[in-house]
Amino acid sequence: MKNSIIKLSHVSKIYQSENISFQALKDINLQINKGEFVAIIGASGSGKSTLMNILGLLDKPTSGSYELDGLSVARLGQDTLANIRNKKIGFVFQNFNLLPRTSAVENVSLPLIYAGISKKDRDIKAKGALEQVGLGEKVGSHPNQLSGGQQQRVAIARALVNNPEVILADEPTGNLDSKSGTEIVRIFQRLNSKGHTIIIITHEPEIATHAKRIIKLKDGEIVK
Ligand SMILES: Nc1ncnc2c1ncn2[C@@H]1O[C@H](COP(=O)(O)OP(=O)(O)O)[C@@H](O)[C@H]1O
Ligand SMILES: [Mg+2]
Repeated sequence: MKNSIIKLSHVSKIYQSENISFQALKDINLQINKGEFVAIIGASGSGKSTLMNILGLLDKPTSGSYELDGLSVARLGQDTLANIRNKKIGFVFQNFNLLPRTSAVENVSLPLIYAGISKKDRDIKAKGALEQVGLGEKVGSHPNQLSGGQQQRVAIARALVNNPEVILADEPTGNLDSKSGTEIVRIFQRLNSKGHTIIIITHEPEIATHAKRIIKLKDGEIVK
């Protein structure tokens, strides 16, 4: 389908170590269209992060197919995947994953270094992204000078600085108080209204209610 940005067909993931194998995803069929705002919910251990890693090209399915923006990606090599990931996907994690002794603007610039953009243009774009998340005043602040909610906003600015089609967030409000969590969800809603596809993983039902569609995982299967 033309409008589909993500299409998983019969995706399974089996973690295999020496003597144990564990099936974390079972025959997942999922289509997400451009411009959707989807929440993926489920108990701890239900396979949310496994699914996110596959959607974000950080891991590969054991079997099944994955089409990202019309391109079949399930069997591509690491370098190609990294390239596609940089262009198309922005990540937000529970622990923010910011570099500690580095200013907000430098943290946000990082993906642009990999994209080969000049220092001058990196600064302009990074400041623009920080303004979009309401942190125009904090460009020079280091993570330890920012609240948890502000650090997560820096991480969102970093995720969107390359203008990716899809933003994937794994428990982005998990380390935040409810007020900061709500602010973060508002930012995702605003980015969604500008056309970004948003996929947010959460185990907080209250956070999920802000999405336009909720997908529930249980024991590696979509149950709703
Ligand atoms: N690298 C791994 N090796 C073996 N088992 C794993 C690995 N990663 C996750 N699992 C198992 O897969 C299941 C799903 O994990 P995960 O996707 O992290 O769940 P969630 O994010 O919903 O809490 C869990 O039972 C977990 O223990
Ligand atoms: Mg998880």
